[in-house]
Amino acid sequence: MYYDSVENKHGLKHDPFKALVAPRPIGWVSTVDNDGVLNLAPYSFFNAVSDRPHYVMFVSAKRKDSLRNIEANGEFTCSISTMDTRDGMNISSAPVEALADEFALADLETAPSHFVKPPRVARAPASLECKHWKTIELPDVSGDDGHFIVIGQVIGIYIDDAVIKDGIVDTASFRPLARMGYMDYAVVTPETAFSLGRPQVQEDGSVKIPEGEWDGVYR
Ligand SMILES: Cc1cc2nc3c(=O)[nH]c(=O)nc-3n(C[C@H](O)[C@H](O)[C@H](O)COP(=O)(O)O)c2cc1C
Repeated sequence: MYYDSVENKHGLKHDPFKALVAPRPIGWVSTVDNDGVLNLAPYSFFNAVSDRPHYVMFVSAKRKDSLRNIEANGEFTCSISTMDTRDGMNISSAPVEALADEFALADLETAPSHFVKPPRVARAPASLECKHWKTIELPDVSGDDGHFIVIGQVIGIYIDDAVIKDGIVDTASFRPLARMGYMDYAVVTPETAFSLGRPQVQEDGSVKIPEGEWDGVYR
């Protein structure tokens, strides 16, 4: 099949877009409002967009509380959601009023951040502490409600020591969740994670996949 995605006449049961660009990591975004009320919500239009310096972004469909708090206070954290915390992550997405604290709603403990005011999810294996850089509103030819890319620089990173093995973060060990389309999710597990060396170009122009331990250089 093929369809005009501006008109979005896909003819399927549901819009397939999110099921195609999948899996997407989930940024579990915490913020505080001007009165210190905590806010927590998952965002799967989320990703790391640069690793030196470290930058992340997420997209708010309409002006949601997370975006409002970030624009008011300039700070947020992104905790990593995992298989173990999936129910809390899901409950924290409930469209409750701005004054509701989703940490309490989802029965999740907070842990203090080092560099920013919003706390992280205590049970998360890692959390990124971010300073807001810029919000970009996406132009939309169909004239729908605004979508806002929120970009922040990561200025502090928490990692649970338990997931560091021989100096390497064992990502699969904490079973990170990812969002697919519809109401579907994926999870990275030790069984599904694997490594692939980067191809190196030889003198004769052929490429070779290096064997043995990675030398730590991204190419
Ligand atoms: C796994 C998951 C991913 C989500 N991703 C997004 C997203 O990328 N953008 C968005 O606007 N809402 C997303 N939502 C919905 C928000 O979490 C929800 O609207 C929430 O109430 C927003 O909270 P806030 O108003 O406190 O920021 C997602 C929900 C779930 C469960």
